[in-house]
Amino acid sequence: MDVSPEKITLIQPDDWHVHLRDGSILNGVLPSTARTFRRAIVMPNLKPPITTVESAIQYKKRIVSALPKGVEFTPLMTVYLTENLSSEVLKKGHREGVFFAAKLYPANSTTNSSDGVRDLSAIDSLLETMENLGLPLLIHGEVTDPKIDIFDREEVFIDRHLSSLIRKHQGLRVVLEHITTEPAVQFVESSSDMLAATITPHHLHINRNAMFEGGFRSDFYCLPVAKRERHRLALRKAATSGKSCFFLGTDSAPHRRQDKESSCGCAGIFNAHYALESYAEVFEQECALHNFESFASVNGATFYGLPLNTNLITLARSPQVVPKTFQLPGFCEREEYLVPFHAGHTLRWSVVFEGANHEDRSA
Ligand code: DOR
Ligand code: ZN
Repeated sequence: MDVSPEKITLIQPDDWHVHLRDGSILNGVLPSTARTFRRAIVMPNLKPPITTVESAIQYKKRIVSALPKGVEFTPLMTVYLTENLSSEVLKKGHREGVFFAAKLYPANSTTNSSDGVRDLSAIDSLLETMENLGLPLLIHGEVTDPKIDIFDREEVFIDRHLSSLIRKHQGLRVVLEHITTEPAVQFVESSSDMLAATITPHHLHINRNAMFEGGFRSDFYCLPVAKRERHRLALRKAATSGKSCFFLGTDSAPHRRQDKESSCGCAGIFNAHYALESYAEVFEQECALHNFESFASVNGATFYGLPLNTNLITLARSPQVVPKTFQLPGFCEREEYLVPFHAGHTLRWSVVFEGANHEDRSA
């Protein structure tokens, strides 16, 4: 990595947690992810979810055909765990090189999770199969018990479920996705190297106040919900620490404007287009640019046993204003748009593309 006051050059990063959706949203958002990331783990919470080898193959094909011409990008597919899934499906998807990992959504914990898992003991044999196969488990780590305060659901999930799960399946590679709390940071740091965590740009930038500044702001509503400031500070320390158990996962989760603003607005923040610049700002503010490459381009690949990317990517100190809206293709302004994270704000770094290999990435 090369860091100077005006430029940062690093190994091209990967996004270890992204929602690409399908149809017009997929076509609209994929170029944003493929613009900077070489690979991404694609979440399976479509409607209906990806629960078969065939549906993962077909979804991957739709992603690849939505890529801008000439862009090299590899989607890593996941399967959505349900209590009805058979071990045979996991084995087949793994054997055929289709499933890169399996995602655990506690039922009704977040967007399109109603088919998720109600009782963790019901998938114990699936976890055992995954452990034997070497198929990683990605966890949305929140309990859904309505008696538990929404701001405590991650911590309670760790206490009630995660600690026993990793104790029981010590050979299982587990990622606690999009962590939001100091207890999660501490838990991951003090566990074995079979457990890691992704951290989103939004949880590094905002605390829970952002949702209520001057009124209700659904653009900052995501799950797990942002927490108190002390948790944000713990996440910033963890992400910028260089520790191998923390790596980049944007959890970019696009929802059309009208779906965010309905009487039951969807959880999710669309951050894909400026994610790398957004993270860079945090690392600079924390005086930790020297650890940026580890977080963005090394730790995740190493955890998953993948080679590091060979391309380099450069960010220049060149401020850019994030547009207030992000239009989806084929629709007029009022109908279909997303609001990107940092909308209307200026980010101080910009990704710059050099050479033929990157020609189409700036699109
Ligand atoms: O905010 C979120 N949005 N969190 C999730 O876990 C799911 C995601 C989505 O799919 O919209
Ligand atoms: Zn997610």
